[in-house]
Amino acid sequence: MTVFSGHAAARDFSSALGVAKLENRSGELHQRQDYQRAADLIRGRTDLQPTIGLVLGSGLGTLADTLGRRTIVPYADIPGWPQATVHGHQGNLVVGELEGQIVAAQQGRAHFYEGYTPQQVTFPIRVMKELGIHSVILTNAAGGVNPAYRVGDLMLLEDHINLPGMVGANPLMGPNDDDMGERFVGMAQAYDRHLRQRALEIARERNIPLHSGVYCGLSGPAFETPAEIRMIRVLGGDTVGMSTVHEVLVARHAGMRVMACSGVTNVAIDAVDSNLETNHLEVLEAAEIIVPRLTTILKGLLRNFPT
Ligand code: HPA
Repeated sequence: MTVFSGHAAARDFSSALGVAKLENRSGELHQRQDYQRAADLIRGRTDLQPTIGLVLGSGLGTLADTLGRRTIVPYADIPGWPQATVHGHQGNLVVGELEGQIVAAQQGRAHFYEGYTPQQVTFPIRVMKELGIHSVILTNAAGGVNPAYRVGDLMLLEDHINLPGMVGANPLMGPNDDDMGERFVGMAQAYDRHLRQRALEIARERNIPLHSGVYCGLSGPAFETPAEIRMIRVLGGDTVGMSTVHEVLVARHAGMRVMACSGVTNVAIDAVDSNLETNHLEVLEAAEIIVPRLTTILKGLLRNFPT
């Protein structure tokens, strides 16, 4: 990896904030050639040319095991790729065929709370762009904040609230690579309308509960307090989770089409005297209901991918 020099001021500012280190652990920033090197490694393992990227979140990675003509590339083999350290994240990139499309599916992802910088968390999205991928579909396990949401429901993201971004943890901070995307990225239409419409049609046809709503991204790793859940509800959040928003920013910066879907793995606890506590096991267990529903929607989308 190469040192991005000349941005000491940005680095000093971020360390003063204490929340938004722009560098990776060895004090370096990724550059274009780092994404290219990772993409070259992947290209060397498969003749398939993926055009659609899938990011499969907590407990949701099993879909990738069904890809035809698949090649499994462990994250550990890909230079610069952040390792997934959390249970329920297998840590492979699987390239293969699904419903007539060539996809690159991430079985698990890295998170900000694992100690990665926002830039490291989003490294895979930029590698996907280098690979020639034009659209990315992200999934996440999320808590249901909207009182109407039940465990096992799905929610299409029509918008998000990036709370870490508001205190300076944004993967687009630092020097901008103008060849990759513009300095200032519009986020009013981050979630592709046509992909959402198509997903809603498929869900309706198949009787799958699919809401549309706002995902509130937090850093984690602690689950939210009841007061925080009530705050998120007031702010307009419908689901809450610890991923996705940074990846969406980077994908939009690179001009990729984005769709994202939450699987509601637990109902967020909004009162201190409820005797309930959110835990990672329930998140993984709920995935068993969510995976078949999500699979139906994703396969339907890919079969007839809107152009
Ligand atoms: N909060 C934050 N992240 C989550 C949750 C939650 O309730 N469930 C799954 N991921």
